[in-house]
Amino acid sequence: VLVVCVVFGVGSARAHENVEKLRHWEIPSKDPDRIILTFNGDPATSRAVTWRTDATIEKAVAQIAEATVNSKFQDHSVSEDAVTEPFDLGLYKSNASLIVHYHSVIFDQLKPDTVYVYRVGDGDARWSEWIQFRTACAEYAPTQFIYFGDAQNDVLAHWSRVIRQAHQTAPNASFVVHAGDLINQAHRDYEWAQWFKAGGFLHSQCTAIPVVGNHEFTPLGGKKSPRRSK
Ligand SMILES: [Fe+2]
Repeated sequence: VLVVCVVFGVGSARAHENVEKLRHWEIPSKDPDRIILTFNGDPATSRAVTWRTDATIEKAVAQIAEATVNSKFQDHSVSEDAVTEPFDLGLYKSNASLIVHYHSVIFDQLKPDTVYVYRVGDGDARWSEWIQFRTACAEYAPTQFIYFGDAQNDVLAHWSRVIRQAHQTAPNASFVVHAGDLINQAHRDYEWAQWFKAGGFLHSQCTAIPVVGNHEFTPLGGKKSPRRSK
């Protein structure tokens, strides 16, 4: 019993040190964060959503309903079980050694040109807010979208202004193209945390088309990270 306690104690201390180095908005928890809505197939009838929690959340769900003018849509929401995948941030040496869980759900058989409301969570007490999006029209229709070039550097300090102003300029944009490079050093979780803090609620409601750039690809070990560049 003594041996087990000692080993457990060392493990806890390491985990604690890992978290100590992180900003509070980088730390995964039981609550969903880093929620991003993307396309999956026909934009008139489907969407995909992905989010993150800490490793204690092993089963996750998303709920979806047609929006109503009040909160009654909740009575008609449908639950979809998520696919849950563990990911070890510590595979990249400058990250804290944390296992996080990524969850994903595909919404399909949606009605075209319809406002839907969804939320993600553990199916019990840990939920995101309800988030709205509109499906595309089934036929040709004028549409508006936002295009971002490389966000890449100083994403929280400066790109936050750009994405927020873009949303004010085109609040009804149907989708957002994020041309790579989204961040500068591919596996550095701190930079992804910045990307989500800069525009998190927009990533969850404005369907994203993330396009990978060369800075989204770096060998996990050995070679130098790409320099701050274009
Ligand atoms: Fe770039």
